[in-house]
Amino acid sequence: MVKTKIAVLVSGGGTNLQALLDAQQSGALTAGEIVLVIASNDKAYALTRAANAGVPAVVCSRKALGSQAAFETAISQALAEHGAELIVMAGFMSILTENFTSQWPRRILNIHPSLIPSFCGKGFYGLKVHEAALAYGVKVTGATVHFVNEVPDGGEILLQKAVDVLPGDTPEVLQRRVMEQAEWKLLPQAAQMISEEIGREKAE
Ligand code: GRF
Repeated sequence: MVKTKIAVLVSGGGTNLQALLDAQQSGALTAGEIVLVIASNDKAYALTRAANAGVPAVVCSRKALGSQAAFETAISQALAEHGAELIVMAGFMSILTENFTSQWPRRILNIHPSLIPSFCGKGFYGLKVHEAALAYGVKVTGATVHFVNEVPDGGEILLQKAVDVLPGDTPEVLQRRVMEQAEWKLLPQAAQMISEEIGREKAE
C-alpha cells in the first residue's frame, strides 16, 4: 500500500516528533511517512531533529508573516508542495482558525497532555496543564490524541491513555511521566491508525 504522506507541525523541543521519527525507523509506523516538518518559529529544536532525520522542514511564523491569513496560506502552500495528506500537531503552539481546519476534516491530529475534557482548552498548554492537574489534586491524568477542529482541544477523541499522579510530583516530573508513558506511544499509534485509514480510502 502506498504510504500516507504526513506533515508534522511543531513549535518546541519536538520529543513527540522524535517519537514519530523513531516509530518510522523501528517499523511501528508503516502506513505513513513523514514528508515535512513545519515549525512555527526558527528556534524550535524540533528543526534539528528533522534535519538529523533528513526530513525537509520549513518555518512558518505568524509573527514574521504578519497576519493569521498569511500564516495559514504559507502552511497550506508547504503542505501542498509536499503532497501532505495527514497533519500531526506535535506541540504546535499556534492557533489555526476554522478557515484552515475546515479544509482538513478528520485529517489533523493533535496530542494534548491531559485526559480531555479535563485541563484543556484555552490557556491549557505546556506545563500549565500539569500545574492545573496537580493543583486540583487528581490522582490520574494522561494524554489524549484528538482530531482538530475550530474549538481548541474540542475535536473528536481518537485515543487516550491514563497515567498515575504520584506523591511529590512537580509539574516537570509529571510532564515527563505523561510524555514517556502516554504521549510518545499514543501519537505514533494514532498516526499509524489514520494513515491506514487514508491508505484504505485511496485503495477503494
Ligand atoms: C507536549 O506535552 C504536548 O502534549 C504539548 O506540548 C508538548 C510538546 O513537547 N502539547 P515536544 O515539543 O513534543 O517535546
